[in-house]
Amino acid sequence: MSEKIILTGDRPTGRLHIGHYVGSLRRRVELQNEGDYKKMFVFIADAQALTDNIDNPEKVRQNVIEVALDYLAAGLDPEKVTIFIQSQVPELCELSFYFMDMVTVARLQRNPTVKNEMIQRGYKDSNDGSEDNDDNKRGLPVGFFTYPISQAADITAFKATTVPVGADQKPMLEQASEIVHTFNRIYGETLVDPEIMLPSNSVCMRLPGTDGKAKMSKSLGNCIYLSDSAEEVNAKVKSMFTDPGHLQVSDPGKVEGNTVFTYLDAFCKPEHFDKFASCFVGRKASFEFHSLDEVKDQYRKGGLGDMMIKNFLAAVLNDILEPMRVRRKQYEKNIPAIYEMLKKGCEDARAAAGETLAEVRKAMKINYFDDASLIEEQARRYGQE
Ligand code: TRP
Repeated sequence: MSEKIILTGDRPTGRLHIGHYVGSLRRRVELQNEGDYKKMFVFIADAQALTDNIDNPEKVRQNVIEVALDYLAAGLDPEKVTIFIQSQVPELCELSFYFMDMVTVARLQRNPTVKNEMIQRGYKDSNDGSEDNDDNKRGLPVGFFTYPISQAADITAFKATTVPVGADQKPMLEQASEIVHTFNRIYGETLVDPEIMLPSNSVCMRLPGTDGKAKMSKSLGNCIYLSDSAEEVNAKVKSMFTDPGHLQVSDPGKVEGNTVFTYLDAFCKPEHFDKFASCFVGRKASFEFHSLDEVKDQYRKGGLGDMMIKNFLAAVLNDILEPMRVRRKQYEKNIPAIYEMLKKGCEDARAAAGETLAEVRKAMKINYFDDASLIEEQARRYGQE
């Protein structure tokens, strides 16, 4: 059997969107169904979500179930995957506390993801020497600043070998890997060095928002959610940016940097051309396409209108989202059962993390009570036989 241990998670700060889907969720479901692993964990990172939402606990609490529903809707199967909630595994806090001694402040300050997120959230740079409240920026919470350490604990507590995440998580994996090396160098081979698993399609690494902005994000209001209705998806796609130079249908259009095509690159499958051929039948012009390259060629030449490609994209997205909507509706009917599933997942996760922590305590020489040789040796030293 494969020795692979797969682990990944999401912050419960909102419903999951199609950026999450192509960035990691789709891959997780494939990995689950391929079955080539020893264990697979997917978790809801509520404690991490609190690091920048400490005054908004209700938001985190309400979104735990949303993310759980999105997982199930996307096809994660609790029979095959342990789904759990981060805060319910206190071993993760313990491990984070030990890891804190193995990372310098300077190293954390160099983490590019944390740097970006600090700017986005308006946290002041703790290094600029000013007092916490002398401008209108908010002070940087220690827990937010150090979340890469806690994330390293999330990963290593389960001895994860494989972490499927989006490209923005690369610096987190690098830090985790450094911590593993430091730990193993000081305390002996104990922890497993995790490997990042990025989306194979570069478009999927960082899906832009519907406004063409760098990233799909709730705060920018440019998301298509997995749970959006078909009508919502149609309206959002209709409002999308295309090529601003493509004014008349007959004008040659640009495909690069055109968000509609970026989405098609991420979502469109070969069977969609047959299935949605009618999208390309119009009053003035009709086309028959068999691949995305053919659509792109025609768009570049001119004559293919934005309405047509948008209708096609909306059809493609709804084709992928419809089975998720149906599954979500089904699961929404029994919320208590989902909490039961999560509770069981938390128990299993605690058991797994507990085993690693026992090894960690032993390696770090803080396992006083189950080390008979320590007590014997000290008793002897003090003259007791
Ligand atoms: N930081 C991740 C995110 O924002 C969530 C996360 C927390 C995570 N711990 C993790 C992902 C461990 C993978 C492994 O999406």
